[in-house]
Parts: sequence; C-alpha cells; structure tokens
Amino acid sequence: MNYLITGASGGIGKEIFKEIYTNEDKFFLFYNKKKIISNKRNVFSFKVNFKNLNQLEKTIKKILIKIKNFDYIINCAGNANPYKEFFNTSTNEIKDNIDINLISHLIILRENIERNIKNNKSLTIVNLSSNTISFNGSQKNIPYLCSKAAMEAVIKNLSKYYSKFKIRINNIRPGVINSGMTKNLKGYDKKRFRKRIGLIPGKKPGSPTDVASLVKFLLSDKSKFIYGQTISISGGE
Ligand SMILES: NC(=O)c1ccc[n+]([C@@H]2O[C@H](COP(=O)([O-])OP(=O)(O)OC[C@H]3O[C@@H](n4cnc5c(N)ncnc54)[C@H](OP(=O)(O)O)[C@@H]3O)[C@@H](O)[C@H]2O)c1
Repeated sequence: MNYLITGASGGIGKEIFKEIYTNEDKFFLFYNKKKIISNKRNVFSFKVNFKNLNQLEKTIKKILIKIKNFDYIINCAGNANPYKEFFNTSTNEIKDNIDINLISHLIILRENIERNIKNNKSLTIVNLSSNTISFNGSQKNIPYLCSKAAMEAVIKNLSKYYSKFKIRINNIRPGVINSGMTKNLKGYDKKRFRKRIGLIPGKKPGSPTDVASLVKFLLSDKSKFIYGQTISISGGE
C-alpha cells in the first residue's frame, strides 16, 4: 500500500508517521523547511513548498507515474501564519496562506480521486482542519479560517459524490495541540498560551499522539462505515 503524508515534518505529522508506519508499505512524506531524514525501509521524503503550486503538481504527478496510485492520503500540512490583525494582512499573505491550506490540498485530491476511481482502487483520506472553526476563528487568523472551513465543505461534497467509488474521506478538527504550530506562531506567547489552555474544559492541551491515534483509526477498517465526517479532538471544546 502507498501512503502520502503531507506536513510529515510537523509535530502532528511526525507522530502520524510513527503511528502508522509498517515496513511492508511505502511512505511518501512531504516537508517544507524541516528536512525529513529516515533510514527506515520504503520511506521517501520530498521537499515541497505549498506556496509553489506548480512544484507541488509536478511532484505528485512524478510520484504517481512511478507508483500508479496512493491508497491512503493524510492532509496534515498547515500553516497559521501570518498570525496578525486582518486589516494589516497583505494580499500576498492572504494568497499564500490560502495556497498552503486550501489550494494545495485541492490539487492533491484532484490528482488522486479520479485516478483511483478509473483504476477501481480504493482511497482513504484523512484531512486535518481546525477546531478554530467552532469559534469562527480569532481576529488574527482569517485566511487560515477560510481555508480550513472551505476544506471541511469540500470533504462533505467529495464524500457525498464519491463514497460509492470506494473513496472514503473524513476530517479531524484538532483543538489546542502541543506541537510546533502553537509554539511557532508570532505574537502567541507563553502567557497567551496558558490563558488559552484555561478555556479548555479538560484544562490541558492535546498531544500529537492523541491526534495520530485518531488518524490511525480513521485510516483503518475499524472505521470502514464512517464517511464524510468531521471529528473534533479538543479536550471538550
Ligand atoms: N497544533 C495545533 O494546535 C493545531 C490545531 C488545529 C489544527 N491543527 C492542524 O494540524 C495540522 C498539523 O499541525 P502541527 O501542529 O503539526 O503544526 P506544525 O508542527 O507547525 O507542522 C506543520 C506542517 O506543515 C508543513 N508546512 C507548513 N508550511 C508549509 C508550506 N508552505 N508548504 C508545505 N508544507 C508546509 C510544515 O513543514 P516544515 O515544518 O517542514 O516547514 C509541517 O510539516 C495542520 O494542518 C494544522 O493546521 C493544528
């Protein structure tokens, strides 16, 4: 079986890989800045910046020529920057964010779903949106909110039309997870983070492993009758 994990160099992506790796399958791991070096069998890593949509499309097509199709796709790449007041966000910043969090994922889905249907192959997809949608986002993450909300709508749509062709697609809404994303946000300091944690009914952030376990379940046959759903993993928020 062939797996694609985007955002595989991130806090959550790394745990997903650890959780689902077997040496009988092939793993194609996408990263942007943090190079992935793995000496495990059948693991292939690719540097792809999702701001460069042509590069992404070429990379996907090149891999597909070799392997014919993916069986599992985990859309984990995401970027909440620029984390700043909407009115101070430039057009390019809005565009870049939407390219990374929405358009790239659409390209990946477009390139794979039709292919698998034509070849009568199943495809199981897990997408990561964000629980920020439940609060209509913050004042500082409108492009990210747009992309994540749009992806949820896309998933419902694709699931509705393509489930009958062995395409199974679900979505996870992580709440606050202790990973690179929350730590690296400009202007999101430790004090703000503690205050944010206080709002969670469970009073603690989730761990990347919490999310990875849910991804593993949604990829497995144990969830074979779950289609087109969004599941929150957010400490009760
Ligand atoms: N952590 C949270 O609290 C939280 C909450 C809600 C939703 N999420 C979602 O969960 C997913 C994983 O997040 P995380 O916590 O693991 O964040 P993270 O540690 O910051 O990892 C983000 C991943 O996305 C990749 N990425 C960022 N910009 C990219 C670009 N321009 N092109 C290609 N890849 C790019 C990063 O690659 P490099 O590191 O190699 O640059 C990294 O692999 C994301 O979709 C995020 O939106 C996270």
